[in-house]
Amino acid sequence: MCGIVGYIGYREAYPIVIKGLKRLEYRGYDSAGVMLYDGDNIKLSKTKGKVVDLEAKAANEISTNGTIGIGHTRWATHGVPNDVNSHPHVSNSGDLVIIHNGIIENYAPLKIELIKRGYVFHSDTDTEVLVNLIEEVQKKENLKLGKAVQVALNQVFGAYAIAVFDRKNPDEIVVARLGSPLAIGIGEGEYFIASDASPFIEYTSNAVYLEDGEMANIRLHKPMKVRKIKDDSLVDPYIQELQMNLEQIEKGGYDHFMLKEIYEQPSVITDTYRGRLHANEGIIQMSGVEDNLEKFLNAERIIIVACGTSWHAGLVAEYIFEEFTRIPVEVEYASEFRYRNPIINRKDVVIAISQSGETADTMAAIKLAKEKGAFVYGVCNVVGSSISRETHAGSHTHAGPEIGVASTKAFTTQITVLIMMALRLAKAKGTLSKTDFHRYLQELEIIPEKVKEALETDAKAKEIAAIFKNTQNCLYLGRGYNFPVALEGALKLKEISYIHAEGYPAAEMKHGPIALIDEHMPVIVIAPKQGHYDKIVSNIQEIKSRSGIIIAVVTKGDTQVRGLADYIIEIPETSDALSPLITTIPLQLLSYHIAVMRGCNVDQPRNLAKSVTVE
Ligand code: M6R
Repeated sequence: MCGIVGYIGYREAYPIVIKGLKRLEYRGYDSAGVMLYDGDNIKLSKTKGKVVDLEAKAANEISTNGTIGIGHTRWATHGVPNDVNSHPHVSNSGDLVIIHNGIIENYAPLKIELIKRGYVFHSDTDTEVLVNLIEEVQKKENLKLGKAVQVALNQVFGAYAIAVFDRKNPDEIVVARLGSPLAIGIGEGEYFIASDASPFIEYTSNAVYLEDGEMANIRLHKPMKVRKIKDDSLVDPYIQELQMNLEQIEKGGYDHFMLKEIYEQPSVITDTYRGRLHANEGIIQMSGVEDNLEKFLNAERIIIVACGTSWHAGLVAEYIFEEFTRIPVEVEYASEFRYRNPIINRKDVVIAISQSGETADTMAAIKLAKEKGAFVYGVCNVVGSSISRETHAGSHTHAGPEIGVASTKAFTTQITVLIMMALRLAKAKGTLSKTDFHRYLQELEIIPEKVKEALETDAKAKEIAAIFKNTQNCLYLGRGYNFPVALEGALKLKEISYIHAEGYPAAEMKHGPIALIDEHMPVIVIAPKQGHYDKIVSNIQEIKSRSGIIIAVVTKGDTQVRGLADYIIEIPETSDALSPLITTIPLQLLSYHIAVMRGCNVDQPRNLAKSVTVE
């Protein structure tokens, strides 16, 4: 995790680096630091806390001029979040300065070796070991920075995106990546470095995303040189035109990114199916699926790998794919899949779902599946991300940047992509009747309108939030397509409000969780008219008989659950298979309001980071 930013050019680096770090805070926010070079001096400021704390400290500590700068926002792995463990780290001579996103796994033996050679360490970090290793290589072999970085990196295991500056050669920054993302923005007479392109979109729309195992020497007034770390071979960098714009990464009048992203769902779902769904013509066109149709049609099994919210979208997809296409589906936590020697056959299709496209466990699961000969399809949001490049083919979700740590629009757009894939395959296999196929297409086309209508539950969600903001526990129940929504609702509540919440299939309640029910326990039941309505009504009665408090998400006009529940939230009607796109909306809003009322940091909840690039 962690975010890195760098600048080398003719402008003042400090404001660019600080603004960039703020945009990357979703990647980690327990400490931050900056290094500036003004032509004579290295100036360093770092602190535990957020980028605003760094700004306050830097203003008193250093003069912030200089046209070369690097900065870091941290999610601690090695060493607690404190000033000393914050990046940048400086080598023993004081010449080399580094920022690092990732983990150097063999840092301990390297550190022992360096200590034997007289190096002194001030922090508990693996990064300080790396910068001193580079220094040792540089001194011993009398190498320029780029070569020293390369030799050092060939001695380490782990993951990294790094930027290194050398006072002895101050018109250059050397960057490298393996397993952690790194984008380089190319301007006129200036370069930008960052974990993603958001820190530099207002300056340039040309970017190079380094591939794993590549490094680059970025020099003032010189073309950038990219080479392979392993064998030094030169690489012709592919310059990509960025699609992001500034508006997308700003709050646009909302109090939090999460709320903005919840409200963006009608428009981003439309973006997701635009050009792919042609309801009137009865066509779904997704190039990734079209180009690999035979692979999908011959699949004996689909295995979905993902983490967190993306895993919940995968669970929804399991129900959809099995019902629509009759292909057996398994959904796996990527973190478990990668370590349990799973059985994967050449006729398996693996679908990897990831908003960020950088999740380390999902990436490792993809590599494993590829090694075993499976065809791997990615469903990612971030264009150019590691996962979208590592997979054989895929579909982007087009949700735009998701900055709030709690995933919202990523979930609904992932489901949209997965529904379209299932419908396309069902058409090819003939496993859905023509009437059903056309009905789903028509319904999907008007889903954004229904999501908009579901957003009107905001006031109700706020009212209920005010009543339950101090609860200590919460149970979420759903059946069928809405079981994963129950899991997702519970995850949203716990991650941003720190209230303990559990999601369960409603019928499983009687096998254990029912023991938790008493007059203090709010139970959120997802009970739309379509699906297993009668069964869920029985579950509601079981809860009522034990004095539980029912908050029910029901279809507009429902009377039966209204008579039983303590609070109801009404949503528009849709078919069972598409209902997760609607039922999830009031649950997102409920969690959001509870977290705000509890004074929690909604966009940056404690201990979390947006993209989890460590195992
Ligand atoms: O970027 P990814 O979709 O691969 O991320 C997976 C999870 O880390 C992510 O969904 C996480 O659970 C979110 N905080 C949930 O809101």
